[in-house]
Amino acid sequence: MLRPGPLGFGLRRRVYTERMAVEAPTTPLDAARIKLDFPILMREVNGMLPAYLDSAASSQKPRQVIDAIVDVYETSYAAVHRAVYTLGERATERYEAARDTVTAFLNAASRREVIFVRNATEGLNLVAYAYGLKFLGPGDVIVSTEMEHHSNLVPWQEVARRTGAELRYVRLTDRGELDTESLEELAGADVKLVAATHVSNSLGTVNDVAAIARWAHDHGAVMVCDGAQAAPHRVVDVQALGCDFYAISGHKMCGPGMGALYGRADLLEAMDPFLTGGGQIAKVTLEGTTWNELPYKFEPGVPPLAEAVGFAAAADYVTRIGLEAIHEHEQVLTAYGWELLSAIPGVNLFGPPPPDRAGILSFTVDGVHAHDVAQILDAEGVCVRAGHHCTQPAMRHFDVVATSRASVYLYNTTDDLDRLAAGVDRVKRTFGV
Ligand code: ALA
Repeated sequence: MLRPGPLGFGLRRRVYTERMAVEAPTTPLDAARIKLDFPILMREVNGMLPAYLDSAASSQKPRQVIDAIVDVYETSYAAVHRAVYTLGERATERYEAARDTVTAFLNAASRREVIFVRNATEGLNLVAYAYGLKFLGPGDVIVSTEMEHHSNLVPWQEVARRTGAELRYVRLTDRGELDTESLEELAGADVKLVAATHVSNSLGTVNDVAAIARWAHDHGAVMVCDGAQAAPHRVVDVQALGCDFYAISGHKMCGPGMGALYGRADLLEAMDPFLTGGGQIAKVTLEGTTWNELPYKFEPGVPPLAEAVGFAAAADYVTRIGLEAIHEHEQVLTAYGWELLSAIPGVNLFGPPPPDRAGILSFTVDGVHAHDVAQILDAEGVCVRAGHHCTQPAMRHFDVVATSRASVYLYNTTDDLDRLAAGVDRVKRTFGV
């Protein structure tokens, strides 16, 4: 049931931090209305409606997605790709229809280029193991970046260790952006693969993926992009970006635990499977095996039907609301949140300032551990993540072990950010800093 949060819904008003008053802006989305689609956000936790500011870790799910998942279990569930009875065929149709939806969502040229995986991490590991181990060797250079999530860094360390390829990094500037000079220093090396994120999950930096892909191609390399923090929040067109692989996580875009890997068809054709087993084979004899056609070659085992249907329902949901409007909404909220937090003495924000940054506000409070910040915020009903956010090298660059991180999505309102700022004021009062 809808109840206003402690500060009410959607009202224009002034919020007083310790130093200044900030006018709450309006955004192109009626987020207070969108919030009603999300049952968990309408349910009190510790006597308060949550101000959920942790969508970069995982997003909440709207009724439309939950209903789609319930519907498939109630009407169409059976093992996908394995049954000739009607329910089995229905299950297969729904699974493949989900692939068509995700193909259109990413604007991939063909459904053969969209592999369903558990999450972006699995998609990136698929590329590392199925492409990296096969095509890289001693003397080859892999380029990753200092801002990567561990899932687009550790797999490349493993590939380098196993193949003898060399792993080098594009460094960060103190604004939290990629240092283009350190990229150019790599220009003479025998670069075969460039792995970079679209949006940094701990700094909010937005990388120019099209330019990085062009650089990679000019140097004869393929480009692997971690799109987990981008696809839920902005229009992603893998053909326009020009990357060779692009991994996304459905659970960060209102869907269940399911992801997709886009891969260029000729590269996927040339790769061997990452995992093997039922469904991904053409013919098995005791002497050997041939692989199924794309995309099935990379999808062994009974596919997760309900997750795929929920993933597609989530893609439909955010598409219907409009990725441009979601992006614009988050730009306004991010600028507002940045202004509120930076007005509080002793609060340090990381990453480039708005505009042109993602809706991720990573901050520390002088004299208070990030986990304590998050715990006090929780007592105020404000959900943020604290830690290194699986980006230890980026944290090290800024000489911190952890930050508190507030991240916004389509259901967040300025009220949520007001509660965040008020909570940080409370943190400071509690610790006397
Ligand atoms: N990768 C997720 C995050 O950034 C879990 O929090």
